[in-house]
Order: sequence, then C-alpha cells, then structure tokens
Amino acid sequence: MNDTLVKIGKTVLKTPILGASGCSGWGEELKCFNDFKNIGGFVTKSITLNEKIGNEMPRIMETYGGLLNSIGLENKGIEYFIENILPSLKTFECAKFLNIAPFEADDLKKMIELLDCHSGFDGYEVNISCPNVTHGGISFNSSADEAETLIKSARSLTDKTLLLKLSPAFESSFEIAERAEAYGFDGITFTNTYIGTAVNVKERKFVFKNRQAGLSGSAIKPLSLMNVYKMSKRIRIPIIAAGGIKNLDDILEFLIIGATAVQIGTQLLIEPDILTRLSRELNLYLEKENIESVKKIIGSLKE
Ligand SMILES: Cc1cc2nc3c(=O)[nH]c(=O)nc-3n(C[C@H](O)[C@H](O)[C@H](O)COP(=O)(O)O)c2cc1C
Repeated sequence: MNDTLVKIGKTVLKTPILGASGCSGWGEELKCFNDFKNIGGFVTKSITLNEKIGNEMPRIMETYGGLLNSIGLENKGIEYFIENILPSLKTFECAKFLNIAPFEADDLKKMIELLDCHSGFDGYEVNISCPNVTHGGISFNSSADEAETLIKSARSLTDKTLLLKLSPAFESSFEIAERAEAYGFDGITFTNTYIGTAVNVKERKFVFKNRQAGLSGSAIKPLSLMNVYKMSKRIRIPIIAAGGIKNLDDILEFLIIGATAVQIGTQLLIEPDILTRLSRELNLYLEKENIESVKKIIGSLKE
C-alpha cells in the first residue's frame, strides 16, 4: 500500500480527498455509498448561529458543464446541530470538518465557543464566501480589513484544525489568506463557487430571486486551478482545493500545482460514491507509477 496520508493542522487525512460542504450533507447521506475508513473525509453543510430558512425557489439550475445554486445556507442553527446531528457525525471513521458561516462579527466566536467542548469532529471550515446571502457572509470576504476583524481571534478559541474558505470573486481573498496564515489558521479552502446568474427569457426576469447564484462543476475547473496556483505563491499553509473536480487527473492537476488536498462538490451529487472510487484510483496510480507517497506529487510543478 502506498502512502496517501496528508496532514492539515492536527488532522491526518487518510487520502487527500474530501467531500465539499453543501454536497456531502451531514455525512449520513454519504454513508451507504462510501467506505469512510478509506477516504479523507468530508465537510458538513454550512451551519449558522441561528436557523436560516434559505432562499426562495428555484435554488438550483443546470448550466453548460456546471450548476448554479442559490440555496442561501438553509439549516436549523447551531443548537439543533449539536443536539441532533453531531452525535451521528461522531461515528464516521474519517476526518470531519464543520463548515460554520458567520453573519455578524461575533457569530464566529459564539459558534466556536458552543461547539469546541464537543468531540467527534476534527475542526472548522470558516465560510465567509457564500455568494447566496444578501448580507453578512461574503461581505467579510470583500475586504481584508473586514475579514481580519473576524478571523483574528479564532485561533485563541480552539485547538482544533482551522480552515478558512474563500471566494474567487474577490482579489482580497489572497490577502485574507496571508492574514489568516499569520493568525494561525491551518489551511485555506479555495475556491467556493463563482458568482453567476441566469435569465428566464420568457418572463424576462432573473431565474433566481437573489439575482445571483454560485457556479460550480466542471465549467469552473480551469479558473479554480489558476486561482489555486496564485494562492500557492502567497501562503505556506496547506491549500484545500475545490472547483470542478471529477476524476483522478483533475485531482493530480490540483496537487501538482500546489494543493495539499482537494474537495469534491458538484460531482458528488452525480456520483455519490466518488470519494471511495477516487481514493482507490489514487492508490492504484501511486502503485503503478512507483510513487511512494502522495506528498511527492504536491507542489511538484516544473516551471
Ligand atoms: C448545491 C451546492 C450547495 C453548496 N453549499 C455550500 C455550503 O453550504 N457551504 C459552502 O461553504 N459551500 C457550499 N457549496 C460550494 C462547494 O462546497 C464548493 O466549494 C464549490 O461547489 C466548488 O466545488 P465543485 O465545483 O466541486 O462543486 C455548495 C455547492 C453546491 C453545488
């Protein structure tokens, strides 16, 4: 067996392949399709401090090579999560990150304080990059100074692994990542969805009530690959890449260009067993190519 382990903060991933937030549910949905013992892990759907009912329908639309979504962070809030979902999460034998989405500046502190005394998960993916809400969330991502007010105290609140998930929509993401590194974050998840939209021609109206939506899937892969490359020149902490990944070659491209691990979102909705399949394929690839460790691939781009 070749070495597919990677480490992010204190968390060891059995393979560098994770299910992305919003497409992995609460893990329960992946359970019957994937062998959790042989995958890296997954990130939960976004959790907010208070319940969010999400956006009006429609929330999802297929596009060429991708998907537009405007879910709007629907979830029942943190107390419901702790009581009803966290107990089952504990039983899954892979890495688990809680995606937490702050709306007000002190939400992050409140959420980590409520969660951190619990066990059964490895860390947090702080999401300041959701394009589908009208306030909070992504506005923290639009300026490095705004983001700083939020991220500067996070490290002092937890010893668990801390990731920050950033948007490709703002140039500020690169500076925010540098500041997150300085404040002790363990990794940067890059990228969230790209901002897009669609028009209903018959009605001459936006398809989505919120006008804009997040574009994901194969269509964004070359954009995310370039963004991850640029990010790799700015920070030394691990990058967990996301954006249109659907096969082993996609994963290898992101690792070669500098990502330490990857997340699969949209393709997981199409192939719910993809985490297990690609983890197995990565193992076979290392064996066939006689590469003793996946770490030899990370950042191996010849420029
Ligand atoms: C239906 C859907 C729901 C999503 N929900 C969330 C979410 O709740 N929180 C989050 O941080 N990202 C969310 N995302 C973004 C994904 O985690 C991922 O960053 C993005 O889709 C790019 O990866 P992909 O092209 O593999 O889907 C969602 C994406 C999709 C398609």
